[in-house]
Amino acid sequence: MFRKLPGDETRNLVSTTPDTAVVFRPAVVSTPAILTIIIFAWRVLAGLIRTILTHPVAVTAVTVPAALGVLYGWQLALALPLSLASSLTCWALFDRDSFTRLAGWRLLAFWRRIWIYRRHWQPVMIVSGLGRHLRGRDYLPRLLRVTCDGWADHVTVTMLKGQSVEDWAKRADHLAHGFGATTCRISIARAGRLLLTFPRRDPLAEPLPALPVSQLADVGPVEIGKCEDGTPYRLNLHGTHVLVAGATGSGKGSWIWSIIRGLLPATEAGLVQIWALDPKLMELSYGRRLFGDRYAADPEHCADLLDQAVKVMQERAGRFAGVQRSHVPTTDDPFVLVVVDEVAFLTAYQPDKHLRHRITAALATLTTQGRAVGVGVLAALQDPRKEVMNIRNLFPDKIALRLDESEQVDMVLGDGARDRGAHADLISPRPELGAGVAYVRLETSPDPVRVRAAYVSDTDIKAMAAEYAAGGAV
Ligand SMILES: Nc1ncnc2c1ncn2[C@@H]1O[C@H](COP(=O)(O)OP(=O)(O)OP(=O)(O)O)[C@@H](O)[C@H]1O
Ligand SMILES: [Mg+2]
Repeated sequence: MFRKLPGDETRNLVSTTPDTAVVFRPAVVSTPAILTIIIFAWRVLAGLIRTILTHPVAVTAVTVPAALGVLYGWQLALALPLSLASSLTCWALFDRDSFTRLAGWRLLAFWRRIWIYRRHWQPVMIVSGLGRHLRGRDYLPRLLRVTCDGWADHVTVTMLKGQSVEDWAKRADHLAHGFGATTCRISIARAGRLLLTFPRRDPLAEPLPALPVSQLADVGPVEIGKCEDGTPYRLNLHGTHVLVAGATGSGKGSWIWSIIRGLLPATEAGLVQIWALDPKLMELSYGRRLFGDRYAADPEHCADLLDQAVKVMQERAGRFAGVQRSHVPTTDDPFVLVVVDEVAFLTAYQPDKHLRHRITAALATLTTQGRAVGVGVLAALQDPRKEVMNIRNLFPDKIALRLDESEQVDMVLGDGARDRGAHADLISPRPELGAGVAYVRLETSPDPVRVRAAYVSDTDIKAMAAEYAAGGAV
């Protein structure tokens, strides 16, 4: 049968069907040379215009010295870039901050765009499966913009039509290693466009000392530690419930104590009450004097305290009904934060069935109805499996410290969190590098944020207890 071959050979091919006189002869239309030249010239011109528009700085940097060289000789062509480079060096030496802010990050972004991202774009896209090679042509997602700051490269890309965020999220590892980073975070910039974040260094690798206690008696977001980009991290406790999950030694204590420390001025002003449940007797007992008689360690006593919190909540709900829809902390109706360390000791591992049901019911009631009336729960636990913590979905805000298995990340932070870069299972088990480091996923934002809580040492806790001991201290 007929087979198409390139060029003139096609013209000479004839085919016939067996036993008939029918002859097929392919029609070959030859393109006039002028048409080919016009198309080729048009492509060159379009490419040139595109290059000028997308890389104006690079084009100027090459064309201006070249033009000067042609017009006035090579000495002048060489003098211009040399004087520019020396002025930039002087600027960087004498005013590093303004140089970095106005020129440094841009120059770095320009360099990294060419040297890292543009150079490796095609192979990384094809090998990771995000680009396609079809009939000799590459269909690749478009690299739009690269910006740099102190800790990471931020790369904006346009997905291929028909791709989903999940397609990219599943290949975060390929992208990270393909472009020489250890991780890659993926977030949506707008429809069809993604923002990929490739950290260049880890600003959270150093432990943070306890933050100074604020002078402001505020129930608003409290400063806990530092985000990856070096900015302070503030966590809101009022109007939500927070679950802190992490393997043993992951630094849950530093989160709990940083939160308590941040709320101390408001506690002293009577706008916040912290109720502490410490079934392990290892964490909150250190600052027991801070909680006065709102501290419980044995399960029976913990259940009583939780029932008391439920009563406060129901009494407020009765009073607020039809009058106000959200809680404003006052000295009469302070924000009550119930802090539970190792909540599984009171629920899953509690041998007394009756007590277990009582505690689980009280926790479920608080987490479903408490936030509108100013009663919040902050619970810490080691094992996030459903059998151990069946009410984990009732906590709107979740914090995942170092976890033992990758499957646990989505259990704590919700579906797709690990694909979006929350690699809580890869946090270093060495305390100086990884303790207190966590991924936070808030109800209001699907993108996990990497944060390190400040380390509140035993000495800090004792000093806090000495200075801020509650009225009814024991
Ligand atoms: N934010 C932090 N920065 C630096 N080191 C920390 C931090 N938090 C904790 N550590 C170190 O890690 C050790 C374990 O921390 P912590 O007791 O808070 O862990 P945990 O998660 O509560 O463990 P467990 O579940 O066994 O109670 C601490 O003794 C301390 O040395
Ligand atoms: Mg602990």
